[in-house]
Amino acid sequence: MIPVITIDGPVSSGKGTVARRVATGLGWHLLDSGALYRVLGLHAERRGVALDDEMRLVDLAEQLPVEFREGGNDTAVLLDGEDVGQIIREERVGELASQVAVLQPVRDALFARQRAFAQRPGLVADGRDMGTVVFRDAPLKIFLTASAEERARRRLGQLKEKGFDANLATLIEDIRTRDERDMQRAVAPLKPAPDAVEIDSTELSVDQVVERILDEAGARSLT
Ligand code: C5P
Repeated sequence: MIPVITIDGPVSSGKGTVARRVATGLGWHLLDSGALYRVLGLHAERRGVALDDEMRLVDLAEQLPVEFREGGNDTAVLLDGEDVGQIIREERVGELASQVAVLQPVRDALFARQRAFAQRPGLVADGRDMGTVVFRDAPLKIFLTASAEERARRRLGQLKEKGFDANLATLIEDIRTRDERDMQRAVAPLKPAPDAVEIDSTELSVDQVVERILDEAGARSLT
């Protein structure tokens, strides 16, 4: 059994940062499943495939020429050999991702690819349905939340750091729309697994959240 820690939660809940820190702390692999959906959305756009053309999207998902190269602080994301790490973080691409992600056959097409990330000594998987669908058998599942306002503030900080322009009110609105779509969709809706540990990070630092998760992992003899 390869141990897996799943970290699910809404957009900008801090999953990405926390998942990377936990993976680095344990020396485990990392799966950023959102990046897969983002790359697929971008690939579809570039190939001129409509976001509701299920059959062609499934084809693209099955053949997706994506490669993740794990580095210390970062993972390079290559699409057809091109580094798209920066582009896929744009809000526009998040929107594309969220649209292709509502299609069950597309999710099925990405399922095996995600499972394949479970390699020794262990995996930290971040996304929306890691604990409920993809790694239902994981020994530790985290559901990370924070208020929409706090998440928008964090997102604004990240965007500004990267030199993108953004506006807080618009970001709050975008986050609410995306939450709504992710939670209301018929397939793999965003929700905590029944056996998930819920952590509200509105008032917590990244360090505190990471510590809490490592404690939970220790309590399950995963470390
Ligand atoms: O986590 P991130 O913001 O990168 O994800 C982008 C979009 O991909 C999400 O809004 C969601 O619709 C979709 N997604 C998903 N299932 C996952 C990860 C992401 O549906 N496991």
